[in-house]
Amino acid sequence: MKALYHGYFATRIYLPLSGLSRRWRRFFRHIRGTSDRFLQNTQLPEVSWKDCTKRRAIKIWEHEKENGNVRISELGILSALAADCGDGTNLFEIGTFDGRTTLNFALNSPAQCTIYTLDLPPDLETMFSLAEGERHMVDKPTPGSRYEKHRETYPAAVGKIHQLLGDSAAFDYSPYKDSCSLVFVDGSHNYDNVMSDTRAAMDIAKRGGVVVWHDYGIWEDVTKALDELEQREGYGLRNISGTSLVYWKKH
Ligand SMILES: C[S@@+](CC[C@H](N)C(=O)[O-])C[C@H]1O[C@@H](n2cnc3c(N)ncnc32)[C@H](O)[C@@H]1O
Repeated sequence: MKALYHGYFATRIYLPLSGLSRRWRRFFRHIRGTSDRFLQNTQLPEVSWKDCTKRRAIKIWEHEKENGNVRISELGILSALAADCGDGTNLFEIGTFDGRTTLNFALNSPAQCTIYTLDLPPDLETMFSLAEGERHMVDKPTPGSRYEKHRETYPAAVGKIHQLLGDSAAFDYSPYKDSCSLVFVDGSHNYDNVMSDTRAAMDIAKRGGVVVWHDYGIWEDVTKALDELEQREGYGLRNISGTSLVYWKKH
């Protein structure tokens, strides 16, 4: 019941209000001629979340946001997309952090799905340097503390989660090729990583599967990489209105 309430709040109340607030901030920034490191203009066409999923009764667990998590509205949409996944398919997240989205993937997706979530061990050398300001998300004792918290209450759902460790730019994705009905790209925010994570995500998505990116319009390199890719390749990337999520369906 509480999970349904949070899902309703996320998509029906928080989403329209936060979307409006971002539009206002962009507008005032424009007329004042000021800049904000964490707010860029966006070029991708928008799509309503309602055109990305037929789900309307959405459930959310662990609604409280930590610095590094997605907004509750974004978590609602991601949960709906997880519920849409075909039973027995894979879901893949690049960037676990505390596992709040991972937990919601596990609890919302069909029972036979497997959730893979990849995170960077703090002492592992990476192919590309981290973006300025994201070290705090890497430096944690273990990834996934928020799904671990629920292992006793929801053993079957949390048992669907497989924690993977490594650098997303050097990771071997070949076992997951064309197998994922949902891929969530939310790892490092530097340009080279976004490009390389995007290539991997599009490769492991199955036909009819969906790739979602976070932080478009928020982290400069994410915005730049996705705008450039769309201009160059015309993939059909869409910014989900009122959010920093980008949506793409593999045909
Ligand atoms: C923004 S947080 C992810 C938030 C999480 N997806 C959520 O929804 O709550 C980014 C995560 O990406 C991880 N990360 C950063 N660089 C990475 C890399 N090169 N490979 C794998 N993971 C990386 C960080 O350790 C951090 O946990």
